[in-house]
Amino acid sequence: MNPQDVLAELTALQAGDVPTHGGATMAYVYDSGRPDVDELAAAAQVAFQWTNALDPTAFPSVARIENDLVGAALGLLGGGPDAVGTLTSGGTESCQLAVLAAREHWRAAGGTGRPVLLLPVTAHPAFRKAAHLFDVEVRDVPVDPVTCRADPAAVVRLLDERTVLVVVSAPSYPHGVLDPVGEIAGLAAAAGVPCHVDACIGGWVLPFLDDVPEPFDLSVPGVTSLSVDLHKYGYAPKGVSVLLTATPELRHAHWFSTAGWPGYPVVNPTLAGTRPAGAMAAAWAVHRWLGTEGYRELAGRARDATVRLAEGIAGIDGLRVVGRPVATLVAVAQDGPDAVDVLNLADEMTARGWLIQPQPPFAQDRGDLPATVHLTVTAATAGRVDALLADLRDAARAAAALPRPVPDAELVAAAATIDPSALTVAEVEALLELAGVSGRSLPARMAPVHALVAALPRPVAERLLAGVLGRVYRPTVAAAPVSG
Ligand SMILES: Cc1ncc(COP(=O)(O)O)c(C=O)c1O
Repeated sequence: MNPQDVLAELTALQAGDVPTHGGATMAYVYDSGRPDVDELAAAAQVAFQWTNALDPTAFPSVARIENDLVGAALGLLGGGPDAVGTLTSGGTESCQLAVLAAREHWRAAGGTGRPVLLLPVTAHPAFRKAAHLFDVEVRDVPVDPVTCRADPAAVVRLLDERTVLVVVSAPSYPHGVLDPVGEIAGLAAAAGVPCHVDACIGGWVLPFLDDVPEPFDLSVPGVTSLSVDLHKYGYAPKGVSVLLTATPELRHAHWFSTAGWPGYPVVNPTLAGTRPAGAMAAAWAVHRWLGTEGYRELAGRARDATVRLAEGIAGIDGLRVVGRPVATLVAVAQDGPDAVDVLNLADEMTARGWLIQPQPPFAQDRGDLPATVHLTVTAATAGRVDALLADLRDAARAAAALPRPVPDAELVAAAATIDPSALTVAEVEALLELAGVSGRSLPARMAPVHALVAALPRPVAERLLAGVLGRVYRPTVAAAPVSG
């Protein structure tokens, strides 16, 4: 075997993947549509693939890269003279560190009891995961069921002396709408509580647009931290995000240092020890190459495509756009009680070569949110909007003719009696078989599965969803090497 054979095997593995390029995969990937950007990123990644960003004193290049990228983010997103930041491995880590910093800051100021996070239900689950990891209680902030924006009145009701952080999104992932950042940050500040703006997905787009309805960045009074992902609309390869903090004190609150072992002195600004520098270098190179004008052009293309898409969808029978998309994300719901079921629509679009993300209906205090499909628009989709709309029209007709996905009533009734924490892995497997999910790959039609998930008690659904992944990650033990 030669190295080319090995690479050919890897390439063959990708045959079943959704495409990372071309604009038809409308979640997970961000394609600038520019091969020059990808080639440069790849070369930069290779140049830094063995560098360890764990120690910027041994590798001063990574300190320079980090300072340049954080500086660029601060310049773009309203950082004041005291503001600083950290490069992280992705949006989830940036959000986690924001929660950790807030918890530590609150404790240092004398906070006692179990810390509390105020979280709009539309905020990314990275914050729920952070709360789980750092033992913080989550209080759900409902969103307006029509605009899908976080409800400031609920924030007022829920704030108390145990609140360590209030989160808002710019924009939210599920619906692409902007939370009332100024109003909520002001309420938090009046109560002496920090406010984090999650601009992971919008932070490298909104500053380049001229139709953003209201300010959302670190310059807004009361905003104390902000996350923005370079591996999304910074068009960098996976593994790089920025967490900005209004003060060095808040940044210090998520750092970890120890001299408590006989090895090298440890200072970790993030959750990782060894930090891969490849993605950081690639992000730096892409940023240097595109510059402000390059990003403005790409953001403009993606935004124009989003506006055209939203207008086109509004004209399709049985579908409507949810809320006011401010950036490059669109959520689509069924328009009227007997209209197109969007979970079926997602399946129909899969059959036509597009990945649009089904989002099940969601129950919350202020009125339930309907099932939607989510579309992330990148610059690469811009040239394909007409084709996308034609397929959406066709898929909507086909979906309207399909039976509405109805969860099995017996299964739902049985699930209501289950204690998910007591389920064994084998019992989860058996339940998945009953639900029609068998084997390692998912069924071609996912609408019934999503409808079932939405009908189950949330803890049961969560256990079953983990069970699905348990089937995907099922290694076979490799044969032991024969020694000579
Ligand atoms: C608003 C928002 N926050 C956080 C995240 C999490 O980012 P990541 O997947 O890079 O961990 C996402 C991902 O889509 C997001 O859209």
